[in-house]
Amino acid sequence: MVITRAEGSTFWTNDGRAILDFSSQLVATNLGHSNRAVQEAIARQARELPYAAPGFATAARAELSEALREVLPSGLDRFFFSTSGTEANEAALKIARVAKGRTKVLSRYRSYHGATAASISVTGDLRRRASEPWQKVPGTVFAPDCYCYRCPFGLTYPSCGVACAEYVDYQLEHEGDVAAMIVEPIVGTNGVIVPVPEYLPRIRAITKARDVLLIADEVMTGWGRTGRWFGVDHWRVTPDILTTAKGVTGAYVPLGVTATTPALHEVFRERYFPHGHTYEAHPLALAPAVAAIGEYKRLDLLAKSKSDGEYLLGRLRDVGVRHPSVGDVRGLGLFAAVELVRNRKTKTPFNTPDDKLSGTPLVVEAVAKAMLDDGVYTMPWVSHLVLAPPLIVTRPEIDQGVEALDKALGVADARVDV
Ligand SMILES: Cc1ncc(COP(=O)(O)O)c(C=O)c1O
Repeated sequence: MVITRAEGSTFWTNDGRAILDFSSQLVATNLGHSNRAVQEAIARQARELPYAAPGFATAARAELSEALREVLPSGLDRFFFSTSGTEANEAALKIARVAKGRTKVLSRYRSYHGATAASISVTGDLRRRASEPWQKVPGTVFAPDCYCYRCPFGLTYPSCGVACAEYVDYQLEHEGDVAAMIVEPIVGTNGVIVPVPEYLPRIRAITKARDVLLIADEVMTGWGRTGRWFGVDHWRVTPDILTTAKGVTGAYVPLGVTATTPALHEVFRERYFPHGHTYEAHPLALAPAVAAIGEYKRLDLLAKSKSDGEYLLGRLRDVGVRHPSVGDVRGLGLFAAVELVRNRKTKTPFNTPDDKLSGTPLVVEAVAKAMLDDGVYTMPWVSHLVLAPPLIVTRPEIDQGVEALDKALGVADARVDV
């Protein structure tokens, strides 16, 4: 499909079709398409100083550092600027391993952390399995997911005692050589899985007590997506390293941010840390991020994400109960997932990661195709759809997206067990 232009929550194809963007492309264009303030910042920076090597200070770098200190959890005020979420995580993992002098990293199966060697090696989803034979950094240990709909222990919250968090304590007691644990505070592509309230505070306490760094991957959950600046803000958790990208510039320019503490920064005053890129702290990426942060504030998008998110989730739940193929509906802010099942009682999915790996056509992709034919774009993944419109979306647009889903679910309903 060829896209020629985009505005607000809509993009247009070369044959003139208007499509409602109900997944913000890759959960990235949080400000919507063609935000004027961000476009202007790019143009202004291109005229003033389009490039400077990373060893130099620039006004854009100083302004973004100041702006980030205002919105990140306090204490995270040292920054490394790269050009993607993948690179932000590569830097975070390297910082953690070098600072601690240890090799292992705890992650979770339902996760995605990036496409290059270290970040794909700590990724739990099927993309790691496809890359593993050629691209494997050793040292990943997987911890249990906090996924109540399919609890890995077969337990039920709250009588489970949040076993998924407690088991991490047991792992850290016995594993040895662990530098860090990396988590998406709310799992993104792999299901928009919101943890139970105790989970992240408990993971923070356990990692701190066992002298292991906590890395929060906020590439997808940052920038108002869940109704707060960052996912960790819901539980007042401060990680040792926070990574982000995507919405930091509204996704118009590639920028990754690795934020950390003065304590970790101090380690590298004494120790040479060879890490950087020609495009590190690129002025053309930093200036639009300053403008984007201004726009999140001016348009009050965090509050809007919260209230419109409640509306979206309510409407999705109403639709979900009427369709036998919907197993679970969940989300936080304008970030939701609808998980499809062949059988509601047994929770048997239509498709598995192995189906995706082998190229089997997926039911969820057929649903997404039916929505697209109806003028609404969404992101399908294995057995669920990720619904995450731009934060500037209007209520009538939310209704349009939900109604397209309602109609398209007939494709999946026709395939449930009878
Ligand atoms: C949670 C998370 N981390 C990391 C990444 C990788 O970011 P990028 O695609 O910008 O390299 C993604 C991409 O979707 C992501 O969702």
